[in-house]
Amino acid sequence: MIITNYLVIGSGIAGLTFAVKIAEAFPDRKIVIVTKDSEDESNTKYAQGGVAIVLDKDQDSFQKHIKDTLTAGDGLCDEAVVKMVVEEGPKRLKELLFWGANFDTNADGEFSLGKEGGHSEYRIIHHKDITGYEIERALLARVSQLQNIEILPYHFAIDLITNHHIDDAKAVPETCYGAYVLNQKTGHIITVKADSILLATGGIGRVYGHTTNPIIATGDGIAMAYRAKARVEDMEFVQFHPTALYDVEGGSSFLISEAVRGFGAHLRTKKGHRFMPDYDARAELASRDIVSQSIDNELKKSGETNVYLDCTHLDMDAFMAHFPNIYNECLKRHIDIKIDWIPVVPASHYLCGGIKVDKTGKATIKNLFACGECTKTGLHGANRLASNSLLEALVYAHNIYKHHVGLELTPVNIKIPRWNDKGTVITKEHVLIQHNLKELQALMRDYVGIVRNNRRLKQAVKRLDIIYNEVEDLYRESKLTTTLCELRNMVNVAHLIIHQSIARKENRGGFFNSDNH
Ligand code: FAD
Ligand code: SIN
Repeated sequence: MIITNYLVIGSGIAGLTFAVKIAEAFPDRKIVIVTKDSEDESNTKYAQGGVAIVLDKDQDSFQKHIKDTLTAGDGLCDEAVVKMVVEEGPKRLKELLFWGANFDTNADGEFSLGKEGGHSEYRIIHHKDITGYEIERALLARVSQLQNIEILPYHFAIDLITNHHIDDAKAVPETCYGAYVLNQKTGHIITVKADSILLATGGIGRVYGHTTNPIIATGDGIAMAYRAKARVEDMEFVQFHPTALYDVEGGSSFLISEAVRGFGAHLRTKKGHRFMPDYDARAELASRDIVSQSIDNELKKSGETNVYLDCTHLDMDAFMAHFPNIYNECLKRHIDIKIDWIPVVPASHYLCGGIKVDKTGKATIKNLFACGECTKTGLHGANRLASNSLLEALVYAHNIYKHHVGLELTPVNIKIPRWNDKGTVITKEHVLIQHNLKELQALMRDYVGIVRNNRRLKQAVKRLDIIYNEVEDLYRESKLTTTLCELRNMVNVAHLIIHQSIARKENRGGFFNSDNH
């Protein structure tokens, strides 16, 4: 058993920022971070465009950023949350700089600001086209200097420990005491007991086969919170990024940043028609729900597999200075951006909903907090504005830290039983796990994609039921493995997306059901 003051699950921007802040403030308190892959593997590491922060007070203003966020969110944002997050941006940036993160500057030494879809002004600070990599590097460097943080890579959180595990199912309120964690190297399941637990487990991209997300994005935190009976909301608002590099094999797809369209790239059909002005006055810089739905419509009309992003008219020296990674990744695939159009297609990218939290990051279970992409804070509403996600994680990590500064920690004096795996055996059915995963991903792609309808959603419920029963049987019989737990979590997440899609009777932002009027 591990006993700690704070258990942080996940080592992306959300988990690391909270851990650093609380460790700096309370050198005598212990923080344990468990993370299921290497310590830097996360969606954060792959973030390209940057962080949306109002810095140019001549041209830009908080008010404009607030307005852009509300417009993208299509009437479902919490305005007070939007205001708070936008206005906190500059302060949170100062901390990142203090911890050693570097962002590009112009010849005058000022931050070089990019533009992305849905933004009315230049306000995206960035580190070339590898902003997330730089932030993750700086945060991990700071973590390594703090003696009271222990980081445990290759440790997979299986489930939250709540009243139900301690035979106190009737206790009110529902309380979280820690988590059961699988040491992926030894196969042992450890009980981690903590005074306060933070879920910072990131997104759900892998539930769809075709995604910009890395393999860790399996919605584990959301599934754990859901099983623990925390509120989970707005799961129907899955955001599809319009410009993932088209790859015949599907699977994980390299992202062509929205900042490339901000830089002036045009979207074209195979025949060369620049179609975005037909759909929206902002053309390629419309918010991403509109761009993705427009591409989807063009592909349905033409029967093609992808559209193209044309950069050939742009200043290539400036392009390569800003987007060296994108240029090189395309070249590796024999696409020379100077002369070739880039084949692109929408792919699942981000989840706007998740674990419902208040402004202090509190979930609806006592002692449980959540931060980052696994949450629903009210910032994004029906569609996230580009580059607002890293900002949200920084601001909420700070709010959760502030809340803990004023909080008496009450050590848990409760006996927690060990994980019970009596009667389970090492599964020989890996093929069933892989098969169910492929079926689940195909089901979500074909029945719960960018444009949904009632008939497909109903079919999705039936098919998911079959997968659910098979996976639950395997889960009960088997010694746990990461892939089995991830599959079970993705089935839970798919259930939430499908049922919350059925419940939504009006189209908003990134959600479109062609039977809704
Ligand atoms: P993550 O960074 O995903 O971290 C989650 C962590 O939890 C990981 O360490 C993971 O291993 C761990 N974890 C998950 N489950 C478990 C478990 N069961 N047990 C233990 N550990 C677990 N946003 C922007 O604002 N600007 C951008 O430019 C931008 N570009 C993007 C580009 C790409 C290609 C992608 C995929 C996303 C981009 N986003 C961008 C979105 C943004 O990167 C993410 O929303 C954000 O980084 C999420 O941070 P997080 O800390 O919440 O989660
Ligand atoms: C991108 O660079 O296009 C991603 C930005 C984001 O997801 O916010």
